[in-house]
Amino acid sequence: MALINENYLKLQGSYLFAEIARRITKFKEDNPSADVIRLGIGDVTRPLPEAVIKGLHTAVDEMADVKTFRGYGPEQGYQFLIEKIIATDYQSLGVSLDVDELFISDGSKSDVGNIQEIFGVNNRVAITDPVYPVYLDTNVMAGRTGDLVTGKFAGVTYLTCNAENNFTPALPEEKVDIIYLCFPNNPTGTTLPKEELKKWVDYAKANGAIILYDAAYEAYIQEPGIPHSIYEIEGAKEVAIEFRTFSKNAGFTGTRCAFTVVPKTVLAATKDGGQYPLNKLWNRRQTTKFNGVPYIIQRGAEAVYTPEGQQQIKALINYYMDNAKTIREGLKSIGLDVFGGVNAPYIWLKTPQGYDSWSFFDKLLNEVNIVGTPGAGFGPAGEGYFRLTAFGSQESTQEAIERIKTKLSL
Ligand code: MLT
Repeated sequence: MALINENYLKLQGSYLFAEIARRITKFKEDNPSADVIRLGIGDVTRPLPEAVIKGLHTAVDEMADVKTFRGYGPEQGYQFLIEKIIATDYQSLGVSLDVDELFISDGSKSDVGNIQEIFGVNNRVAITDPVYPVYLDTNVMAGRTGDLVTGKFAGVTYLTCNAENNFTPALPEEKVDIIYLCFPNNPTGTTLPKEELKKWVDYAKANGAIILYDAAYEAYIQEPGIPHSIYEIEGAKEVAIEFRTFSKNAGFTGTRCAFTVVPKTVLAATKDGGQYPLNKLWNRRQTTKFNGVPYIIQRGAEAVYTPEGQQQIKALINYYMDNAKTIREGLKSIGLDVFGGVNAPYIWLKTPQGYDSWSFFDKLLNEVNIVGTPGAGFGPAGEGYFRLTAFGSQESTQEAIERIKTKLSL
């Protein structure tokens, strides 16, 4: 009989958001008339910007005409989109990139999950705790960890981020090889100033480590002095891979388009003591396993970079950030400890006394029919915390906060 990949058995239960969806379905079955407001998964609710819709329509028409029809595209993405991204998102920050250093993909979740394939199994991985579960789970699946012992996977370095350390991870005590960082952070909604991020780049350079930097929420940064890209830090192009997405800034969660930057100067070691560019490995991986993002979708993403597209995504971000303010201020007004939500669409709160993350999840769902995400689902240091997202509609967000303020027994 064929053998399974036993590493999968190390994972406890289902993927966090699948488990939450299961609980909501059960609750709806038991309470069919309940008006449930979902502020759990970070999924957008506003329609795609008009400029994007226009770009998509034009591309659909091109596909209907034999003269402009396209079959397989380049696995790495079309140059028309790559060039716009480099010019708009990177040159504006003083970061220069070559077109073959950027790979268009169907999502940052896929890329941050797949990237570990190009690294050896014996690397030591560091993650912040709490963390977006994909980083950790994909390393467990690949066999880069031991078993789960008292809430932590053996062989993984957990970098605690909590209110006590102002959600700023400390450099690891032991030597690590691969470091996952996400800022603005999911789930805590907090950010890292340049001088803190520089410590990580310096650490990576000194220890031959690679930083996998998830910048999915950079468009939500409102305050000056917070890096939008890790490449704003000197030396990062030698040690960091960066992930970005159109999901959160332009509403592409169901449309699927993202990109990953792998500078040709990022090298990792070979067994025989040599060094090898990760760009080549990622290119080999993508050309083998991926056939590229649909032409139509890439034209939609390209439209984000038109002047109208830029204006429209700004309006979208402002809309969600208004929700973030409503949530932050509403929760604060009833005396809860609240973090994040200033440069990110996530609000991280301390669960009220007497409640752990999951019991607070149940309480919110049962008493006021609101869905959030239990902090413990993001790692052991998330216990005692809870996440709400700003991605709901303005009406449902206001209604949710009103219910929490007036109907929740605290
Ligand atoms: C979340 O809720 O953390 C996000 O939806 C994660 C994701 O984008 O996959």
